[in-house]
Amino acid sequence: MGNGVDVTSLQSELEDLWKRRDEVPLQSAEAVAAVDAAIGLLDTGRVRVAELLDGEVVVHEWLKNAILLLYKQASPQPSQFGPFRCADKIPLKSAIDGVQVSPGAVIRRGSYQEPGAVVMPSHIGIGSYVGEGTLVDSWVGIGSCAQIGRNVHLSGGVGLGGMIEPPMARPVVIEDDAFIGARSMVYSGARVGEGALLGAGALLTDTIPVIDAATGEELSRGEVPPWTVAVPASRPREFAGGTFGLPCLLVIKHLKKGERHDKAKLNDAVRTQPPATLSL
Ligand SMILES: CC(C)(COP(=O)(O)OP(=O)(O)OC[C@H]1O[C@@H](n2cnc3c(N)ncnc32)[C@H](O)[C@@H]1OP(=O)(O)O)[C@@H](O)C(=O)NCCC(=O)NCCS
Repeated sequence: MGNGVDVTSLQSELEDLWKRRDEVPLQSAEAVAAVDAAIGLLDTGRVRVAELLDGEVVVHEWLKNAILLLYKQASPQPSQFGPFRCADKIPLKSAIDGVQVSPGAVIRRGSYQEPGAVVMPSHIGIGSYVGEGTLVDSWVGIGSCAQIGRNVHLSGGVGLGGMIEPPMARPVVIEDDAFIGARSMVYSGARVGEGALLGAGALLTDTIPVIDAATGEELSRGEVPPWTVAVPASRPREFAGGTFGLPCLLVIKHLKKGERHDKAKLNDAVRTQPPATLSL
């Protein structure tokens, strides 16, 4: 793996650098080159910060730590974005393969979008991954290291939390064929299962209970089961000061595996033939 980069030795070099980060000069040419090589691998999709293996989220800590080392090494660099002047530590992507990108999209180097993804004006953080056929609609914010599968629909204004600050053990994961309704927020390592539909305005973090409306059973905290429809709701909670409604997610329907909800059908018209490599 890795077009000329020996990933195994790069991993041990970065693990060593991470252990000794308070003792060694992080600005040395070797340290800068090692971090840059790791970010380059992330940028071209040859490695990813986290992936699903046998249904479990596996985090590759050395890649997450490479991003943290980059933050330590980098100093704000001036740039110009239309009429706006910026001073930013993490550069933008400079080339993208086969992805439809609208003006106003801000895509960081070190993130990867598979060919066939569509990116409207939105912000895509470092270390994140977006699968083929996924639509990132306007004003979506994809936090650092969030992992988004294939044929996902992230509706307008959706917010997906990052893994860097505050530091999270797990990234947000949105699995293949999921549909995230407008202005929904998924944070703190929460996970939306394959084919699941999250209704508009939902809030999901690792502590939000997901409750089955048919049985009242709490199915999980922070995980929407695959092939379900979940909408934002509240549950009464007793406190010394009275009874208050705290947010939860209510699973109101179970879909058959592979079934797409009528209100979540994808429209091929927006997914055009991917363009050739674009230099941004
Ligand atoms: C979840 C959704 C798909 C509806 O699913 P559905 O299976 O057709 O369910 P229904 O419309 O029959 O609604 C079932 C119940 O959930 C409630 N409900 C539906 N969506 C809800 C939401 N987003 N928030 C809170 N409650 C919701 C309905 O009011 C209804 O309650 P009722 O039984 O008392 O009438 C739809 O409401 C939704 O949120 N779609 C996403 C829209 C969107 O974000 N589009 C993107 C545009 S860019």
